[in-house]
Amino acid sequence: MDDAMGNAAGGGDVRGPTTLLDVRDVTVRFGDLTVLDNVRMEVGLGEIVGLIGSNGSGKSSLLNVASGYYQPSEGEALISGMSTSHLSPEGVARLGVGRSFQNIGSLQELTAGEYMMLGLETDWAVGLAPALLSLRSSRRAERAAREIVRGWAERAGVVDYVGVPLKHCPYGVRKIADIVRAVIAGPTLLLLDEPTSGVASGDRAMIADLIRMLVEGSDRSIVVVDHDVEFVSSLATSMVALAAGRVIARGATTEVLADRAVVDTFIGHASEGLVDRIAPGDHS
Ligand SMILES: Nc1ncnc2c1ncn2[C@@H]1O[C@H](COP(=O)(O)OP(=O)(O)OP(=O)(O)O)[C@@H](O)[C@H]1O
Ligand SMILES: [Mg+2]
Repeated sequence: MDDAMGNAAGGGDVRGPTTLLDVRDVTVRFGDLTVLDNVRMEVGLGEIVGLIGSNGSGKSSLLNVASGYYQPSEGEALISGMSTSHLSPEGVARLGVGRSFQNIGSLQELTAGEYMMLGLETDWAVGLAPALLSLRSSRRAERAAREIVRGWAERAGVVDYVGVPLKHCPYGVRKIADIVRAVIAGPTLLLLDEPTSGVASGDRAMIADLIRMLVEGSDRSIVVVDHDVEFVSSLATSMVALAAGRVIARGATTEVLADRAVVDTFIGHASEGLVDRIAPGDHS
């Protein structure tokens, strides 16, 4: 109804069922500190959106809002038209949102396979709950979970590391394991916080391929945060640029890269011409 009436009226608001994530005028404050200031961001079905900005500009905070870890002081975030206000992170996950983290933290003793399996530990993920009713079916559920993990590990190119403790895995493999953990339950919106930070350049290409694979032929959408603007631009069809909690540019990747404020604020003039070197949103 929204869609039909909005379009019929020729009104400005064309956000409809194809908008998966709709961040509406979100402000987040902690005491006197405003970490997000009236931020708007929309992510359409099947789209990869890049989120760029220098340290402390609010990128992780925005992902925290979209995944229910932070509640806005003002404004709201909607997933498929449903407000996430007052939902817990688990409640937001149930709406189909997966999230990778900037630092994978304290679970280094787990093998890469066990870590990926954590993503299945939700009652909505693969219907594990009924299977847990008896020990026999619990074993069956565990076998099924191992197979799902193995399939993902193969597709992501890390199958040799499934049995290896994370602390002994190359950094790129740890990051891939975290992406798989976030996506394995089948979210429609995947939020990736610096998937290549600290990763060697060869592994970056692998991570880029994995991200492309995750949207190919599906309605899944991804928001990717990274300091490597070239990496983000090569994946994203549109971008949002933050500085000190405010959106300084948003729109098609080529437009944002050419934006004077973006270049001046954090790309730096050395990177001018980036827009000519890359093919934004080229998912081939
Ligand atoms: N829970 C919190 N309490 C207080 N301040 C916070 C909180 N979360 C974030 N901030 C502050 O908000 C600002 C933005 O932080 P955020 O982590 O979102 O930035 P970022 O763009 O992800 O930075 P980086 O590139 O370093 O990861 C920082 O000044 C940070 O200290
Ligand atoms: Mg961050």
